[in-house]
Amino acid sequence: MVHQAGVPVFADIDRELYTLDHTDLERCLSDETFAIMPVHLYGHPAEMDEIRAFADEHDLYVIEDAAQAHGASYKNDIVGSIGDVGCFSFYATKNITTGEGGIVTTDNDAVAEQLRMLRSHGMANRDQHVTLGYNYRMSELNGAIGTAQIDRLNRFNERRKEISGRLLDALDDLNWLQPATVRDYVEHAYFWAPFEVQTEKIGMSGKEVWENLREQGVETRHRYNDPLYDQPVFARHRGFNSDFPWSANPNDHDYDLSLPNVEAVVGSMIGLPNHPNLTEEEIQYVIETVREFDTVAQVR
Ligand SMILES: Cc1ncc(COP(=O)(O)O)c(C=O)c1O
Repeated sequence: MVHQAGVPVFADIDRELYTLDHTDLERCLSDETFAIMPVHLYGHPAEMDEIRAFADEHDLYVIEDAAQAHGASYKNDIVGSIGDVGCFSFYATKNITTGEGGIVTTDNDAVAEQLRMLRSHGMANRDQHVTLGYNYRMSELNGAIGTAQIDRLNRFNERRKEISGRLLDALDDLNWLQPATVRDYVEHAYFWAPFEVQTEKIGMSGKEVWENLREQGVETRHRYNDPLYDQPVFARHRGFNSDFPWSANPNDHDYDLSLPNVEAVVGSMIGLPNHPNLTEEEIQYVIETVREFDTVAQVR
């Protein structure tokens, strides 16, 4: 988006879903607003009805970031088919992978045509370059892996869901480990089995929990420890050796943004192991290790 001279305006997150808070959209709106980009974080769909309604009211595109949500659905609609455009990642850690790469979904023929051109050097056909494009083609080898992976997606997701459910049930009573909310009208893809570490209850940060569990051989996910808007690339508007296009205002070198829900949760999220290939013994080991860690941590 920023490569196309778009200027990101960061909305706060929903405190329960950890993704775009639609009630903050009004604040972010300006005459320049073009699109809303909800992220289906950890595999849980964003609140698409409200987002879609806001977009329709203000004539905006909706671009779904479904990079973590292959196969998830919102009120029976599969993610990636709800907005105007959906983006999926097939990076190695994702629910299904092609090693690297991804796909874009759309039912808008004009957008599809434009994307096909951008993917392949801006060519409309073998002889004509009509727009400034890229080489974003997925190789056939990667594509072949992807077609085999797609056949396994439902099975993988069912297993991720089952393992995540087991972890949720078995760790339900640990007061410092709060499971993420799952709305009853969604199908979660469980890219993560996400938990929020309640630092004040255990006296440890998410990072300390992550480190301790890792020492015991339990590899948890622990990401997003700085808000995106504080990352140097955005905070200082560094792009293409100039300010453009990071800021709509070229004099606006630094901005001072602080989003309360983001800052309340940043650094506190961990994802417990839920890979579909985990064995029963490994799942049991995760549960026992976290419970043992709870006992040790509580008496510290
Ligand atoms: C939410 C989200 N968006 C976008 C991406 C980028 O995907 P890729 O690395 O395939 O470009 C990722 C992958 O890490 C992601 O998790």
